[in-house]
Amino acid sequence: MSLYLDHLAALQRHAESALERTGFDMLLIASGIEKYAFLDDRPYLFQGNPHFKHWLPLTNHPHSWLAVRPGKKPRVVYYQPDDYWHVPPSAPSGEWVDAVELIVIREPEEAAQALADLVTPRTAIVGEADAALAGLQPNNPEALLNLLHWARGAKSPYELEQMRAAQRRAVPGHNAARAAFLRGESEAGIHRAYLVATGHTDRDLPYTNIVGLNEHAAVLHYQYQDESPPAESRSFLIDAGAQVNGYASDITRTWVAPGHDEFAALVAALEAEQLGLVDEVREGVDYRDIHLSTHRRIARVLRNAGIVNMSDEAMVEEGVTKPFFPHGVGHLLGLQVHDVGGFMASETGGVADKPEGHRYLRLTRPLQAGMVVTIEPGLYFIPTLLRQLRASPQAAQVDWDAVDRLARYGGIRIEDDVACRGAGEAPENLTRDAFAAM
Ligand code: GLY
Ligand code: MN
Ligand code: MN
Repeated sequence: MSLYLDHLAALQRHAESALERTGFDMLLIASGIEKYAFLDDRPYLFQGNPHFKHWLPLTNHPHSWLAVRPGKKPRVVYYQPDDYWHVPPSAPSGEWVDAVELIVIREPEEAAQALADLVTPRTAIVGEADAALAGLQPNNPEALLNLLHWARGAKSPYELEQMRAAQRRAVPGHNAARAAFLRGESEAGIHRAYLVATGHTDRDLPYTNIVGLNEHAAVLHYQYQDESPPAESRSFLIDAGAQVNGYASDITRTWVAPGHDEFAALVAALEAEQLGLVDEVREGVDYRDIHLSTHRRIARVLRNAGIVNMSDEAMVEEGVTKPFFPHGVGHLLGLQVHDVGGFMASETGGVADKPEGHRYLRLTRPLQAGMVVTIEPGLYFIPTLLRQLRASPQAAQVDWDAVDRLARYGGIRIEDDVACRGAGEAPENLTRDAFAAM
C-alpha cells in the first residue's frame, strides 16, 4: 500500500471510532467556500478547511464535500463548475480517486442532493457556518472535534513526507533570498527572489513572508516590504515557508553582512542554543519545558555577550530575558502553520495551561512521536520593550551602549521544523536536512 492509502485507512479507522464514541452516524466535511470583500465582487484568497485537506490533497477546491461513514468508502462530492471566468478544478485525478466514491457537481447547491441519501439526524457536519446548504448545517460537535484535533498532532508517514517536501521547496528560496540580501537588494527584491526560487507565488505561500532588513528584523511579524534598499544592509531576517499538498514549512533564518562581527557572534551564539533546543524535542517531553529552557539559554547568550550582567538564574527569575525574547519558542506545524490542538489537555478536551507569565506560547502539550513542531528562539532589540527595561530596577545591569550598537541589526530568529521520534530517539530536523541536501 502507498503511504497515502495507509494514511487514508488510518483516518478512516480513527474517524469510525471517534463517531462511535461521540454518538454520530456519519462525518461530513465541507471544503469551504470563497469569501468576498465587503460590497465587492472580488474574492479573498481561498482558505480551505484543514479537516478536508487532512483526507484529500485538494487545496483549491471550494464547495466540495467529504462524507465519512463506517464500513464504506468515503464519498467525495467534487465541485467542478462549468466556468469560463476562472479555471475550474481539473478533472479528479490522483491516488485518492479510486479510494473514494466520487460524485461531480456543477453547482454548489447540488451537494445537498448528492449527500441526501447519507444524512441522518446524527450526522456531524464540520465546516464554517457559511458553507451551510439546505439540510446541511455545520454543527461542529465539540466532543468529536476534540478527538480529531488531538489526533492531528501526530503526523502519519504520508504527512511527514509532505512536510519534508515542503522543506525542500522552501530551502532554495532561503538560499536565493540570502544571496539577494548580500547583493544589497531591497526587501521587495529579496521577496521576489524567494518566490522565483521556490516556484511559488504569493498565493501559494502558507503565510505572508516576513522579510526584514536591519531594524525591521526587530518587528516580530513585519508585514511590509520596502521597494528601495537601505543605504547599508547590515542584517536580514527572513521567515518564509512553502506548501506541498496542503502541508506547510515555516523557516526563519537571520543573515549578517560581512564585517559586522559583534552581531555575527550573537547570531552564532543563538544558533548554538537553537540546536540545543532542537535536541530537546523528545517523546514525552513537556513542550512548556522547552520554552522555559529557551529563557535560560537566552540568559546565557546575553551574559556571555556582555549585554546583561546578571546570573542566568536571576535574569530569568526577574524577567530580564523577556524583553529580548517576547514570544513562544514554537508551535505545532502541519496543515496549518499554527496547527490546531496546541493547548489541549487530552483527546477529550480541556486546556493545558501556559506557564504563568508566558502568554504567547502556542503549544503546551507533551510531545508525541510524529508531532512536528517549530523551534524558533529569538533575540531582539525592540525599542518599546527596551524602554520598559530601561525604566526597571534591572536597567543598571544592562550595557546600554552594547544594546544601542546591536539595535541597528534589529534582531535574530532561527526557526527549524522538527519531527519528534519514538522513545529515546533523537529528533529529525526537517529543515536542516533539507538545507544539507541542497
Ligand atoms: N511564521 C510565523 C511563525 O513563525 O510562527
Ligand atoms: Mn513558526
Ligand atoms: Mn516562522
